[in-house]
Amino acid sequence: MTQPRRLLPIVGAALRGHFGRSASTCRYRCGNACDHPEPNESDNQYFGDLVQAEVSRRGVMRGGAIGAVVLGGLAAASPAVAAPADPDADAARDVPDAAELGKSGAPAALGFKAIPPNRLDSFIVPNGYDHSVIVRWGDEVLPGAPKFDVYQQSAEKQKKQFGYNNDFVAVLPLHGRDRALLVCNHEYANPELMFPGFTSTAALTVEQWKIIQAAVGMAVVEIERVGRTGEWQLVRNGRRPYNRRVTASDTRFTLTGPAAGHEWLKTAADRTGKSVIGTFANCAGGVTPWGTVLSGEENFNGVFVGANGAPEAAKPGLKRYGFDIANRGAANWDTADERFDLTKNPNEANRFGWIVELDPFDPKAAPRKHTALGRLKHEGANVILAKDKRVVAYTGDDERFDYLYKFVSHKKMRDGRSPSARQHNLTLLESGDLYVAKFDGSGRGRWLPLVKDNASRVEGMTVAEVLILTRLAADKLGATKMDRPEDVEPNPKTGKVYCALTNNSRRGVGTDPGVDPVNPRANNKHGHILEITEDNGDNASETFSWKLPIICGDPADPSTYFLGFDKSKVSPISCPDNVAFDAAGNLWIATDGNALEANDGLFAVPLEGPNAGYLKQFLSVPFGAESCGPFISADGKSVFTAVQHPGERDGARVENPASTWPDGDFAKPGIAVTWKLDNGPVGS
Ligand code: FEO
Ligand code: CA
Ligand code: CA
Repeated sequence: MTQPRRLLPIVGAALRGHFGRSASTCRYRCGNACDHPEPNESDNQYFGDLVQAEVSRRGVMRGGAIGAVVLGGLAAASPAVAAPADPDADAARDVPDAAELGKSGAPAALGFKAIPPNRLDSFIVPNGYDHSVIVRWGDEVLPGAPKFDVYQQSAEKQKKQFGYNNDFVAVLPLHGRDRALLVCNHEYANPELMFPGFTSTAALTVEQWKIIQAAVGMAVVEIERVGRTGEWQLVRNGRRPYNRRVTASDTRFTLTGPAAGHEWLKTAADRTGKSVIGTFANCAGGVTPWGTVLSGEENFNGVFVGANGAPEAAKPGLKRYGFDIANRGAANWDTADERFDLTKNPNEANRFGWIVELDPFDPKAAPRKHTALGRLKHEGANVILAKDKRVVAYTGDDERFDYLYKFVSHKKMRDGRSPSARQHNLTLLESGDLYVAKFDGSGRGRWLPLVKDNASRVEGMTVAEVLILTRLAADKLGATKMDRPEDVEPNPKTGKVYCALTNNSRRGVGTDPGVDPVNPRANNKHGHILEITEDNGDNASETFSWKLPIICGDPADPSTYFLGFDKSKVSPISCPDNVAFDAAGNLWIATDGNALEANDGLFAVPLEGPNAGYLKQFLSVPFGAESCGPFISADGKSVFTAVQHPGERDGARVENPASTWPDGDFAKPGIAVTWKLDNGPVGS
């Protein structure tokens, strides 16, 4: 057997893609979306000439100030974190206790010393902290999985092993404080970093495509605390009944909600339109108060071919979701499974782009795709309870000039510890109202109903059509075109909602839409954070106020803004992607594609008090990687970070890696935990 050769990393030879991304990231992740016109060609206007004129007058360089002057001035929403169900039925005995999930030993202040921006091929944490790798690509997930050997990989092995390119991370307590289930997404594959001897995607074998389809999806693994520290490790022995791999090739999903069973969802293999094999392009996600995990199917278009041969009637919809309707496309997943050829199976495309709900405490249950939350390039979804206990889910459509959405369930969450309460709560995302955001220049905004009270609010489209072609429906309502809405998450402490707007290379460029108050920077390389305060402190409200607390970039750049905090003290930050909160309500931001020539990282910033806006870099991920997750444990002692695509640089290969993280041989995506050496809460 050939052993991996250890060569010098090709760090210096990195070729640049778009902003901070490598060209290979762009290719495998999103099909070079930046090189194509944005799929949103709708002519819905943004704010009207008056507001545009106001922005021009103030100038883009004062974009931050714009955020500062449009404060909503409304009272914060009341905290709305609810107890997860704790049924006493055997099957659900391990569902986490509400008290455990919400327990706060978390930092009130962020006392760590910021790490400097760097380009090291290491996982860097602040002084006084340590980190370890919990699980990496190829590690055993299903008990008895074959030992990982990159030279002897197969699809059957991969189905039992930890997948590739971990993104979202959630940790749900199991039997108290010292055991937990770690649930993650595996977003996409890097064949050039997975297969020794890689030459081109055209040369991939059927088995290699099958490995790719087995390497994406999701994973559930049992982890245990190390001693009394904030460190966690994989449970490597024993039964581990919850360990699970969800793949693109094998796992059967149930479609729920008003669009399930619609003609557009039926295929030759599924005449019901209610049953789908697989999930992929799973990016961010969220944890529900009833102890399930949500996962967003994002750049699903990238694996299909043959959109040029789809029926003419389907082409406008395909085009709006980024499919190339002019060309067949190069050999892709269809090589191993012809359902990914849209000429043969045009409706297969409609069966992806949903929010997935996985119950990690019921490993036999089919995960579900909820049509009620609409079909888009979902970054993820995060939920909070409205005042009356209906469930509100926020979800972003991650594409240049696409929209921000909100779902409000029809049914209310049930407290209590009975199996029937949990069973009820598992249906909450199956029916509800769906809205899209319209921002007004005055710092106010509205949630425009797409579907409400089981009726379509979009002329000429049925409920099911709105839910399957949600982008086209939102175009008709004149929703606000955003700078790539990524993670959207309510702060459990205040109910205010924070959205990472990653960047937009085309804002105000050529004939593309110009700046507006909520996307105030032309050629927005570094992105910004949006804060939404729902009216009456109720997340079910149809109106809100908004502001921009953070406009990212090098603090020396006058267009940046950090809640008015002294910019000489804050860390540079670029391309915010995933957000999370600690129990004190501090905002944690993970970046993707740092356009400041430094590795991606994780940052933390207080949103209230004297240090509001004092943003500091907490950690950085190895060269070529994106920092994902993040997840801060309820006790505040552990920060979980997914290291996605380490060493992803053009020209990098297994034999010639741009990163050797984490094991010193070749790059493997993995999940790390960071803790404080004194075992106190992070940041303290
Ligand atoms: Fe998978 Fe929007 O990043
Ligand atoms: Ca993301
Ligand atoms: Ca998040």
